[in-house]
Formats: sequence, C-alpha cells, structure tokens
Amino acid sequence: MLSETDFIANSISSDIYQGIFTWSAPSNIALVKYWGKKQDQIPANPSISFTLNNCKTITKLGFSKRHFDKLSENNSTFSFDLLFEGKPKEEFKPKIQKFFERIEKYCPYLKNYHFTIDTQNTFPHSSGIASSASGMAALAMNIMSLEKELNPEMSADFFYKKASFLARLGSGSACRSIKGAVVAWGEHQEIKESSNLFGVAFSPELHSVFHNYQDTILLVDKGEKQVSSTVGHDLMHNHPFAEQRFLQAPQNLSKLKLVLENGNLDEFIKIVESEALTLHAMMMTSMPYFILMKPNTLEILNKIWKYRNETKIPVCFTLDAGANVHVLYPEQYKNETLQFIKDELVGYCQNGQYICDEIGFGSQLILEN
Ligand code: PMV
Repeated sequence: MLSETDFIANSISSDIYQGIFTWSAPSNIALVKYWGKKQDQIPANPSISFTLNNCKTITKLGFSKRHFDKLSENNSTFSFDLLFEGKPKEEFKPKIQKFFERIEKYCPYLKNYHFTIDTQNTFPHSSGIASSASGMAALAMNIMSLEKELNPEMSADFFYKKASFLARLGSGSACRSIKGAVVAWGEHQEIKESSNLFGVAFSPELHSVFHNYQDTILLVDKGEKQVSSTVGHDLMHNHPFAEQRFLQAPQNLSKLKLVLENGNLDEFIKIVESEALTLHAMMMTSMPYFILMKPNTLEILNKIWKYRNETKIPVCFTLDAGANVHVLYPEQYKNETLQFIKDELVGYCQNGQYICDEIGFGSQLILEN
C-alpha cells in the first residue's frame, strides 16, 4: 500500500526548461458523501461519486525555468501568474498559493519554475456548481505532466495516483475527478486498493444501467454559499451525530457497491436520496447550524417524488453542498425525464437554467508539451 512518503518526488532524472500542457478535468457528484475530515484532507469516512462529462475545467499550464541570478530574485517563493478565461484573476491566487504550499513537500521542483496558469470552466461562472474539484484536478494533472518530464520512468499507474493525491490536497473531493467513471475515496474493506490518500476507480463490473447514467443539474440558486465546505467540514468536529454518521457512510457504501454491480435502482434511489438528505441534516444539526437548501430545492424534491410515484420512472435526486438539485436517471428515460423537467421543474430554477450532464471518464490531456 502506498503511503504519503511514496509520493515525494526525489528521483528527478531529467531536466526541462520550458513548456506548456493543457488538461481538462470534470466535476463529480458524490453518491455517498464526504462530510468531515481529519488533518491533511484525510476523510472521516469513505465516499463514492459519479464522474461528470460536460461540467469541466480546462487548464493550460505554461512553465519556464527560473534563473536566480538577480539579487532581487530568490527561490524561497512560488512564482506564478493566474488567468481566468485569459484575463488575470488576482482573487484566485491565494488558493493556488496555498495549494502549492501544501504539495511542495511532494513536488520539490515547483519553486524552480515560473508558471502561467490559464483556466476556464465549461459551465457558467458562479452557477453554484463548485469548480474546486474540477479546477484542482486539472491543475494536478498538469503538474504531474511536468513531473513526468522530470522523471520519465514514472508508471502510468503512479502518475494517476499521485495526481489524485495532489488534487486531494487542493480540495478533498477533487481526488475523485482524475480517472474513472465511478470513483471511491477513503479506506473501505470491500473496495480493493481503496485509500484515504487518493481516489480509486470502482473496479468491479459496473452494471450496464449506470454506463450512461444522466445527471441534469437544476440551478436553483447561483449565489455564493453562505457557509463554505471548509467551514462545514470543520463543524463535524464535536458534532452530536458525527460518530453515527461516520459509521453509516461506510455501511451505505457497502450497500451501494452491490447496487452498482446488480443495477437494483430501487435500492440505488434509497441510498442516494438518503445520503443527500443526511448531508444536509448534518449541516442543520451543526453548531452553528445552517441551511443551504432553498424553498425551491424542496419544491423540486417533492415534485420528483410525486413524478416517480405516478410514473414508476426511476428518477431520483442528490444534492451537493448547496441549493442546486442533481436529477439522476437512466439514459433510457431521457426523453420523458427531460420533458418532466421542462414542464414541472424549470420554473424553480434561477432564470430557468439547468445543465444536462451524464457520467464521464475523468481528466483528459488536451495539449502535450
Ligand atoms: O471537496 P470539498 O472539501 O469541497 O467537500 C465536498 C463535500 C461535498 O461535495 C458536499 C460531498 C462530496 O463528497 O463531494
């Protein structure tokens, strides 16, 4: 089993002066939720997610070797420019600075380079869809491409594992956006090679019903969240129900693992909807307590339950740490479900906006050095 020290790059065998890589990485939606963490982004419980296909971040990383010949320059700082959609974005820099600080131990070559990070999302800006998972995953992929140039012997398996390890240090759930359609993160007895340090693709046979599962994201509220997920995770310390929750999540993961293999959608729906509501129940029972759902979120959940009851179409919801609703359903019901969404749910979305997505496969290399 790999440990933290295995990810320290200490065998640099090659040199590279400059170059550019571009990677895309998708967002993901958790089915069993990660909520609560220990030091260094170690999850309090294992989680599992569907990788999305259309909601992505595309990040171009330009790098050039620094020359420390001027007195004013020194190699004790990171050197980078940050562009969002081609324009400088100072507000995003502290997050990247913090990410570099966290991963420096594992990527000691970072200070040898000046970086230009140019990033954009395929989903609308401030849509309430968190870009931290896709953003950190795309940046981690680019950094690993640089590391691979420095250490060409690296295996493909290690490349992806370390990318997920680095992404996790940026934003926990980002480690599930690297590789695979269904990704588990966090140690779990029944999931082969599962680790708290990185995500692993769900390797047992995934039932065909999930192969092109649909996720239509209803944008209920596009505003800034009042409580960040960092604060939310922290509130799981000394939470009155945390202990129980950290026992429940691995049990739900065991049940969901079976469902992902046997395609039992009634069970799928029960686990996934219960997980979504439990996540929000944890928020509502924190001290201080908070609610991220909006009245329209609840309207949508009730409509979905009514529609499912009436039609027996296996459509269900999950929620992220926000008011938006992810509507999940098998591809064979795409036409009727989209019609239902247009007829009955769009009115609850801010400016009638929603995004059609489906299960995807992970990050992609767009431009090689
Ligand atoms: O990765 P973070 O620290 O932003 O936490 C994400 C937590 C949830 O999205 C609510 C659940 C999950 O497992 O993705």
